[in-house]
Amino acid sequence: MELFAIAKKAASSCKAPRELFLSALFLACGLAFLAGAAGGGQAGQEDSSHMILSGGSQGVVPFPHGLHQKVVEDCQTCHALFEQQKGAIEKAQKAGELGNRELMRQCTTCHRQARQAKQPHGPVSCNNCHNA
Ligand code: HEC
Ligand code: HEC
Ligand code: HEC
Repeated sequence: MELFAIAKKAASSCKAPRELFLSALFLACGLAFLAGAAGGGQAGQEDSSHMILSGGSQGVVPFPHGLHQKVVEDCQTCHALFEQQKGAIEKAQKAGELGNRELMRQCTTCHRQARQAKQPHGPVSCNNCHNA
């Protein structure tokens, strides 16, 4: 994180005229480029790949969406309940199309079944999802 901040600072100084490209600055810019490339990728993943879902009164639920896109074969397992859109859960709940805790049941049922089958599975207890 700290390296990223430093590199970011250096990146802004990359706009300096070419004459100022001392070897040290050159290195810093190179680093900034690398950090920018890696950081950019991660930031992109955070947006659509890792989510924090509202768990209402029980507290937020971190949700690795990208992982589920890989391990759950059919997108519709979840998206039959709500659209493939940010804020879709809230929208569907407000419209009365998605019941309270209906999605949660989807999460816990699948995790429990996978656990029973001795497969890799996600959390099944409250505290390992809510505020985890
Ligand atoms: C285990 C459940 C689950 C599975 C499986 C799943 N999603 Fe999602 N998806 C979600 C949740 C939860 C959200 C967040 C909705 C919200 O913000 O209200 C979401 C949101 C999205 C969004 C909007 C993301 C954004 O940041 O704008 C897209 C696009 C999406 N899903 C596509 C897919 C695709 C394509 C697949 C299959 C390859 C898939 N999803 C599989 C649960 C799932
Ligand atoms: C696999 C993750 C997961 C586990 C385990 C889990 N929850 Fe949830 N819970 C969620 C998600 C996601 C939501 C939001 C979506 C929904 O309401 O269906 C939610 C919503 C809720 C809500 C609705 C909050 C509101 O105000 O609308 C309550 C209450 C709740 N959970 C209680 C619990 C309790 C109690 C347990 C343990 C017995 C538990 N949850 C275990 C993921 C989980
Ligand atoms: C159809 C099955 C299925 C559904 C639905 C599902 N999951 Fe999972 N989840 C999995 C599997 C399988 C894993 C284990 C993946 C692995 O470790 O390879 C997992 C893992 C996880 C993990 C742990 C990730 C880690 O890095 O260890 C979390 C957190 C999680 N799920 C949250 C949720 C929440 C919240 C929901 C509902 C919004 C949900 N899951 C719905 C199958 C499911």
